[in-house]
Parts: sequence; C-alpha cells; structure tokens
Amino acid sequence: MATVKLSPSILSADFANLGETLRLFEGHPSVGYIHFDIMDGDFVPNISFGAPLVKSLAGKTGLPFDVHMMVTEPARYIEDYVVSGTEFIVVHEEATFHLERTLRQIKSFGVKNGVALNPATPPESLDYILDAVDQVLVMSVNPGFGGQAFIPSSLDKLRTLAKLRDERGLMFKLAVDGGIDRENIKDVIDAGADIVIVGSSILRAEDPEAELLAYDELLGGGQE
Ligand code: DX5
Ligand code: ZN
Repeated sequence: MATVKLSPSILSADFANLGETLRLFEGHPSVGYIHFDIMDGDFVPNISFGAPLVKSLAGKTGLPFDVHMMVTEPARYIEDYVVSGTEFIVVHEEATFHLERTLRQIKSFGVKNGVALNPATPPESLDYILDAVDQVLVMSVNPGFGGQAFIPSSLDKLRTLAKLRDERGLMFKLAVDGGIDRENIKDVIDAGADIVIVGSSILRAEDPEAELLAYDELLGGGQE
C-alpha cells in the first residue's frame, strides 16, 4: 500500500491560537501536510480566511501547506498563496474558467497543482488534463463547512480515479476531503486515497493529541 498521509484542516481550529494548532500536528508520523480551506462566500456559502493568514503561518512549521481554494475564478489569487512551504494549490474544476491554464499557472510558481471535484462532478471531467495534475481532490461533502456527513458515493469516485491512474501510469496523489473520521478512514484508503483531509474529527475531539496518536497507530506509524 502506498504511504497514506493525513492533511489536517485548520478550519475547525481556535483561530486565536493557530501557532498551538500547528505545533499539535508536528511530530506525528501520520501527518504529512497542513490543509488550508480558503472560502470566498461566492463559490461556497461561507467565508473562512485568506492569504494574509496563510502567509503569517509560513515558516512556522516544517509541514508542507496544502491550499484548497474554494474560490470563484481562483487564477486571480494563485500567486498570493505561494509562500515558503506551499506544496499544493488545489482549485475547483467547477470554479475555474480555464482549468488547463490555471494548472500551468500554479506550476509556473514552482508549486504542485491540484483539482478538486464536488460530489456531483464526474471524474471524467478531468479526462483531458489528468496527465497535467499533481493531486485530484475528491470532495466527500459539499464544500463550505466542516463537520458534515461523509457522502458514500465518493468511494466509487475514488476507485474510478485510482483505476484511471493505474491504467494510464500516472503519479497524481489522490486526496479526499470531508466527513472523515477514524471509523471510515479505512474505506477511503481501500478505495485508493493517499492524502486524507481531516478537520473536525481531530480538532473537535475532546483530546486532539490523543486522537492524533490514534491516527498514528491506525496508519501504521506512517511508514514510508
Ligand atoms: C469543507 C472543507 C474541508 C473540511 C473538512 O469545505 O474543504 O476541508 O474542513 O472538515 P471535516 O473533516 O470536519 O469534514
Ligand atoms: Zn478542504
């Protein structure tokens, strides 16, 4: 099995103590990235935070940043999210007018690109650009809020994308985001996910540190 890493989302964190949240994620072998949920109140019905916050955390952790832009026409803002530590910038297929160009734009800054698919968007929508994508993010909730219930049809979509990746000999990471906890994480991994975004399951847990240790255990100590 390929190495599976968590990409914990800070969306459910106490924003007054974000430094502490970053420290919580460090030193856990299951954690591979920090996930930033950028919401514009237009593409999704909620506003979260923007580039100043991401910039203020640059250099404050050794963990790479995974930036999820839930923003209409994100091409306008890509450069703002290129900070030291940005590994992925992920845009939505449904929100990006010229997806192929935007994916190239992201790469031009030396950052890996990604495309997110809403629950209703078929994997076939990526047929002609899949070889230019570093991450495909399957949304397992409708984007906009943390703490929603996992949509089971996402498993099928993950399987389809994992199969396409194999058939075409591609290397993109397969990520999944929304409603994942220690109960259903095995299902998404079995379906082919290798980056698992987790928000409320860690940060709204009674003891987030204990929850992270349980994830470390579950992912086999995060072996390489
Ligand atoms: C939803 C966001 C997710 C969310 C995950 O729009 O993209 O990253 O914060 O949170 P949970 O794990 O609570 O669904
Ligand atoms: Zn997200």
